[in-house]
Amino acid sequence: MCGTKQAAINGHSSSSSHSCIEAKENGVTKKLPSDSVINLDHGDPKMFESYWRRMGDNCAVVITGWQSLSYFSDITSLCWFLEPELAEEVRRLHRLVGNAVTEDRHIVVGTGSTQLFQAALYALSSPDADEPMSVVSAAPYYSSYPTLTEFLRSRLYRWAGDAHGFDGDKPYIELVTSPNNPDGFTRKTVINRRGGKVVYDLAYYWPQYTPITIQADHDLMLFTVSKSTGHAGSRIGWALVKDKEVAKKMTKFIELNTIGVSKDSQVRAAKLLRAVSDSCKQLGSQGSVNFFDNFRRLMINRWECLRNVIRGNDLFTLPEYPKEFCNFAGEFTEAHPAFAWLKFKEEIKDSESFLRAHKILTRSGKHFGVNKTYVRISMLDREENFEILLERLSKISAKQQENGPSLRAS
Ligand SMILES: Cc1ncc(COP(=O)(O)O)c(C=O)c1O
Repeated sequence: MCGTKQAAINGHSSSSSHSCIEAKENGVTKKLPSDSVINLDHGDPKMFESYWRRMGDNCAVVITGWQSLSYFSDITSLCWFLEPELAEEVRRLHRLVGNAVTEDRHIVVGTGSTQLFQAALYALSSPDADEPMSVVSAAPYYSSYPTLTEFLRSRLYRWAGDAHGFDGDKPYIELVTSPNNPDGFTRKTVINRRGGKVVYDLAYYWPQYTPITIQADHDLMLFTVSKSTGHAGSRIGWALVKDKEVAKKMTKFIELNTIGVSKDSQVRAAKLLRAVSDSCKQLGSQGSVNFFDNFRRLMINRWECLRNVIRGNDLFTLPEYPKEFCNFAGEFTEAHPAFAWLKFKEEIKDSESFLRAHKILTRSGKHFGVNKTYVRISMLDREENFEILLERLSKISAKQQENGPSLRAS
C-alpha cells in the first residue's frame, strides 16, 4: 500500500473540482485541491517533519537572552567558532553510523555545506597561480556547482565542466558527490592525476539513502544536517579535513565571509544529532524510533511505490541500483536516493516542460550537464505531495499505454 495515514486521496480525477487531498500541516488537517501544482524541483527535506513532530519537546532548545553573545566558541580550537558540543556530536554520529573517519580530522563548521564548498575552493586553489584553477565534476553533477563556482568570477578558480572532458595538464579541483545528486550512484574520482585536489561532497552518505559500505577516509569531506536529519533551515554543515593548513584556510574564509557560524543553530544541530544517535542506541525518550531505520523504511516504501507506478510503461525509466552490504543495517540493500532521476524516451524532447504541463515541477537534466530528456524529482517532500506525484505519474503512464507514444499533456 502506497498511501499513508497522513495523507488520503479522495476522488480519482485531478480535473474534478471536488477532488481533494487531506493533509496534516502543523497538526491541522487541511484540504488541498488535488489539482494544485506540486513543486519537486528542490530537495526540500519536508519528509522529515513528521518524525521530529513525534519527538515533541524532547528536541526543543531553549536559548536564554544571556547566551550566545560572544563571537567565540572555543579559542583553543583551530575552528574557533565551532561549538564543542556540535563537534562532539558530529564525531559520535559518524562513529555510530560508520560512514566517515573522524579521528585525526579537523572539523570546520559552516553555514550549510554550501558555505563550506566555497571555503574549500578558496582553500585548495593557489593564490599565486597564473590562471584560475579548473573546477570539474563528472556529469550529471549537482546543479549548484557551476553557479556557485562562477558567481563571484574569482581569479582563483573557474568552472571547467564535466570531469570526463577535462584533458588539461593544469592543476584542478574535482568535486565528487557520493551518492550522487542527481542520479544516486556511488562515485569515485574520474581524473586521478597526481596533484589533483578533490572535494568529497557526502551530503547523502547516510543509511536512509544508500548502503554504508565503507568508512569514508578522504582528505576533505562535506556533510550537512540538511540531508542527514532534514534540518535544511538551520543552515549547518561540517567539513572533515585531514590537512591542518587547508582547515585553517577554510576557517579563514568563513571568518571573512560571516565571522563564524550561528551559535544558536549549532546548539540546535548538536541537540538533533544527539537525538539521532540516542535513537540508534535506543537511549532516547520513551517510544523514540531509530531514526535511520525509520527513514530507510520510508525511502524503501517510496521507491517501491514509484517503481510500481512506472512499471510496464515505456515512456520513462529509472536507474537500477546494485545490492550491496550495508554495514549499518547489517543486510544487503540497494540505494533509495533522495531524488528520482527520470529518463524520458527521446520523443519527449523537454521532459521538465512535459511534467510541468502535468503540474509537477522538476529540474531539467540541462542543469546537471546532460540533456533535457532527463529530469530530477525530489523524493523528500511531504507524504501528501508524494502521493499526488504517484497519482499523476500513474495517469501519465496509463494514458501512454492507451494512446501510444504520441502522448501529450492534457
Ligand atoms: C550534493 C549537495 N551538496 C550540498 C547541498 C547543500 O547543502 P546545505 O543545505 O548544507 O548548504 C546540497 C543540497 O541540495 C546537495 O544536494
